[in-house]
Amino acid sequence: MKIQIINGPNLNLLGKREPSIYGDESFDGFIDKLRMFYPNDEIYYFQSNSEGAIIDKLHEVGFDFDGIILNAGAYTHTSIAIADAIRAINTPVIEVHISNVHARESFRQHSYLSAACKGVILGFGLDSYRLAMESFKLK
Ligand code: DQA
Repeated sequence: MKIQIINGPNLNLLGKREPSIYGDESFDGFIDKLRMFYPNDEIYYFQSNSEGAIIDKLHEVGFDFDGIILNAGAYTHTSIAIADAIRAINTPVIEVHISNVHARESFRQHSYLSAACKGVILGFGLDSYRLAMESFKLK
């Protein structure tokens, strides 16, 4: 399978950013392990702090990849434009979050994206991404 992981704003700082919430592992280290775990899949990774760049990437891969794993960071809670982009493409999108956003501030408890996504996985640390990979294996 061809899977695209898209990380949104501030997720380039994973490992350094608020480690008590997001852990102390960098995404580069994690993705090496993920690729070893799924040697038969092609896992592509893109991170951007810009809403438009995330939308452009969804458009680029959204018609021929098998799945997209999207952690849109804070844009989750603000972006109708990203929700529209998810609805505009054919590839199924799984929304993921590292933290359990429902156990945090009230402004994190609403997602504009969830209703446009195939499913949502959150609160399992970086394992949320691995569980999203597993979801693409379900028949
Ligand atoms: C996050 C949760 C968001 O509320 C936050 O803005 C992030 C990370 C998560 O993975 O837990 O940047 O998406």
